[in-house]
Amino acid sequence: MTRRAVVVGTGHYLPQRVVENAEFEATLDTTDEWIRSRSGIERRHFAAEGETTSDMAAKAAERALADAGLTANDVDAIVVATSTPDLTFPSAATMVQSKLGMTRGFAFDVQAVCAGFVYALSNASALIASGQASRVMVIGAETFSRIMDWTDRSTCVLFGDGAGALLLEAQEQPGTNSDRGILATDLNSDGRYKDLLYVDGGVSTHTTGHLRMQGNQVFRHAVEKLASTANTALDRAGLSAADVDWIVPHQANIRIIQGTAKKMGLSMDNVVVTVQDHGNTSAASIPLALSVGKDRGQIKEGDLIVTEAIGGGLAWGAVVLRW
Ligand code: UT7
Repeated sequence: MTRRAVVVGTGHYLPQRVVENAEFEATLDTTDEWIRSRSGIERRHFAAEGETTSDMAAKAAERALADAGLTANDVDAIVVATSTPDLTFPSAATMVQSKLGMTRGFAFDVQAVCAGFVYALSNASALIASGQASRVMVIGAETFSRIMDWTDRSTCVLFGDGAGALLLEAQEQPGTNSDRGILATDLNSDGRYKDLLYVDGGVSTHTTGHLRMQGNQVFRHAVEKLASTANTALDRAGLSAADVDWIVPHQANIRIIQGTAKKMGLSMDNVVVTVQDHGNTSAASIPLALSVGKDRGQIKEGDLIVTEAIGGGLAWGAVVLRW
């Protein structure tokens, strides 16, 4: 038997304020048509004044607990993937712990920008497999609206805010690739590409900074690296793209999502797409898509899912799991 990390609950939270593409036409030299055709994005949610990453993360986690029929003190650990925590420290994860009323276990953040949720899932799976935790709440939550340069049309129209959560539970499975739970992961980074996507500020440089991106360069790396990391993770699980029920990709650009599916030989009918409604929510995009995909009735128990993401670092990776 093999101890696997199985998803037993999902939840998500999107801030109330919805901003349609057309709203940017008033302040920027852009159009709804450009944003839609180049990125697939139609609208995004922005957090309210005073609404923070840990507020959204806690709401998503509360919904995942309710979905699983469990309470906060049934959980051993919280892992929050974010690049936009409320404060420099403590971690957003410990703030979520307190907001949930959880008085046991441990909590920490993972920072791998848009690949953050894939990194967090991989870490949570290892905590469960090693016996250090039996239930882990894995959350992706971001307020990228706080690091936008609102005069830069090439970035500020692309990002949004939100949070998604998965509750993972240790379950003994037969030890084959038909098991439920996380079956394989693949993580990568290459710090030589720092200048393609970064925030030009931080604690040790005395500023908060704004997101800077050479979009077309990141696009080139994404198309090349995402199908490759997904196939590597599938290979590690002893599976292939033909076995996949759903690709649940990082939601940055519909053209990247289409290109990755095509490279993997899969139809867009096998892809959960939310980019039109959420924009790019960085580490929150995959758990948001998983939770929405389940609510839509797309993702069902037993389905084989591959998630993949790339972002600042560059950092990229994939996780193969059976729902
Ligand atoms: O989540 C982390 C990973 N990030 C990504 O995966 C993002 C990857 N990149 C992308 O999604 C795309 O590269 C973008 C959507 C950012 C841009 O699309 P593109 O087809 O690569 O366009 P481009 O950057 O090559 O720019 C084409 C033109 C430029 O004008 P010129 O130089 O051709 O005259 C830009 O100045 O589009 C212009 N442009 C805009 N025009 C209207 C850039 N932003 C805008 C805008 N409205 N908002």
